[in-house]
Amino acid sequence: MKVLVTGGAGFIGSHIVDRLRADGHEVCVIDDLSSGSRDNLPADVPLHVVDIVDTQAVATVFASEKPDAVCHQAAQMSVSRSVREPLFDAQVNCIGLINVLDAAVANGCRRVVFASSGGVLYGEATSPAPETTAANPISPYGITKWVGERYLSFYAREHGLAAVALRYSNVYGPRQNPHGEAGVVAIFSKRLLAGEAATVNGDGCYIRDYVYGPDVAAANVTALTADLPDVTAGTLTSLNIGTGVGTDVNELEAEIRSHVAATHAAEGKRVTLPEPTHGPARAGDLRSNLVDASLAADVLNWEPTMDLTAGIAATVAWFAEQQARD
Ligand SMILES: NC(=O)c1ccc[n+]([C@@H]2O[C@H](COP(=O)([O-])OP(=O)(O)OC[C@H]3O[C@@H](n4cnc5c(N)ncnc54)[C@H](O)[C@@H]3O)[C@@H](O)[C@H]2O)c1
Repeated sequence: MKVLVTGGAGFIGSHIVDRLRADGHEVCVIDDLSSGSRDNLPADVPLHVVDIVDTQAVATVFASEKPDAVCHQAAQMSVSRSVREPLFDAQVNCIGLINVLDAAVANGCRRVVFASSGGVLYGEATSPAPETTAANPISPYGITKWVGERYLSFYAREHGLAAVALRYSNVYGPRQNPHGEAGVVAIFSKRLLAGEAATVNGDGCYIRDYVYGPDVAAANVTALTADLPDVTAGTLTSLNIGTGVGTDVNELEAEIRSHVAATHAAEGKRVTLPEPTHGPARAGDLRSNLVDASLAADVLNWEPTMDLTAGIAATVAWFAEQQARD
């Protein structure tokens, strides 16, 4: 099967590309490299450096590549930017999505998988939220993810696409951009490896459901390529992708710190890592947000394979390697 991955040069997208190729599929990528990097992709993967907001450019890529399926990861994904610039957020996340869906339909794609978000749809969730939880997005980013699912449902009905929206929890792992606002594991790993203190917002008692990027990629690949009785033409299937396990930011910092200390010890370095500092609480930060992925277990036969300790170890090792190279 040939799959076009938008945002394929980014964190999650590039893991999807790797997994698709490992399974023997042909892959091509659209990415404007606004936060992604060519370095995340194998050299022989065709990369079209195109902004998904550019209707004609997207149509041209689809007409030349003629993919069988589309995996839509490209997005404006900063909540705070969406609050400051709701128009820009809607251009990328709504107009960009419509450009991709129109081009997919015009070129005979049969299946579309969309990166949605459990975190921004469900709001406060002290126990793992199922997909039946009423959507209550409070930021423009959350609104465009919700509207994106509604567009997907419309295109599925109108054009007979088989559509899947994967509602991720907090994704982390190698290749996550440490310069964004969301990737707390990437940000803390990079800071602690550089010998700098991690800054914890408020009291740090914010519980999140951390899921490993390559596990999320595996869910995408199954949703894109497997013969699935519940994923049929004309329907949208929305599935949570997470672990249901809660970890607060203080526990997360301690876990990352212990792996960074172990990395230094393995290199024979004696380094005293600075204690975390506490900054102001972020307005509107949810106290708890967890997703229940049991439907994904039924529909995709998907379960996370990486626990947090092993996932953080792999992530810290990757950032340490990057730091040694820089
Ligand atoms: N990381 C998370 O915890 C998380 C959680 C929920 C949902 N998501 C969603 O998963 C998807 C992938 O996120 P990620 O964490 O890999 O982020 P990322 O920033 O690493 O990847 C996004 C990619 O899209 C590209 N892109 C952005 N705007 C574009 C545009 N206008 N045209 C073409 N390409 C564009 C970027 O260059 C980047 O390569 C996004 O849709 C995001 O909203 C992520």
